[in-house]
Amino acid sequence: MKMKKLVSVLLIAACVCSFAACGSKEATESEGSTSEEKDTLVMATNAEFPPYEYYEGDDIVGIDAEIAQAIAEELGMELKIEDMAFDSIIPAITSGKADFGAAGMTVTEDRKENVDFTDTYATATQVIIVKEDSEIAGPDDLEGKKIGVQLGTTGDIYASDIKDAEVEQYNKGFEAVQALTQGKIDAVVIDGEPAKEFVSQTEGLKILDEAFTEEEYAIAVAKGNDELREQINAALATLKESGKIDEIVAKYISADDAE
Ligand code: ARG
Repeated sequence: MKMKKLVSVLLIAACVCSFAACGSKEATESEGSTSEEKDTLVMATNAEFPPYEYYEGDDIVGIDAEIAQAIAEELGMELKIEDMAFDSIIPAITSGKADFGAAGMTVTEDRKENVDFTDTYATATQVIIVKEDSEIAGPDDLEGKKIGVQLGTTGDIYASDIKDAEVEQYNKGFEAVQALTQGKIDAVVIDGEPAKEFVSQTEGLKILDEAFTEEEYAIAVAKGNDELREQINAALATLKESGKIDEIVAKYISADDAE
């Protein structure tokens, strides 16, 4: 008799506990979603980087914009895109002005000191753009040359490592390409996909076959923001699995274009 009573007391206690656990979880969840900011995910980007992010009229479109939109939908949140200089993206994330950065951003050890990265969603290479009649045939020929890059990018970092090279930093990748056509610089080092876009819009330029390193793009979040990082990773996994990521990429990069 006594034993039975004890069991039921324990059972009730267990029930109450689990209800309580449930209740507190709900409380934290709704706490999160009641404040307006939490319903909106703010993405920092630099919309000078087709096909990943660029303007179409007043809208920022591209692979990153669409992937971010799909992630926001998975998380039941609104997406707001803030355009800024590429080298302002990480400061915007660390200061909390933006929730994450999606900007064809390469995962690097240096950046990992300031932000955390999600799983990667694309691979890329740094390529060299030169004039069609240039003598420069590969990375080794860049020694002592004038090289244009977009400020703060991995292209900027590589170019700075080249012996005796003079690195010209531009705010926009396309400005570097224009400087190249005007003969102000000898080459541009930039990510492969925007390179193709820029070269196709400009007369007399070519992309060298020999590329620099392989890189991986990922989304950056504030250091220690494991909750958002895990939510984004889960959403990315779902979107990879469903074929949505491939679909978005295919919309912006045609298959015969891809290398
Ligand atoms: N992948 C390069 C980097 O991470 C260039 C990215 C530039 N992105 C942009 N949206 N402008 O440095």
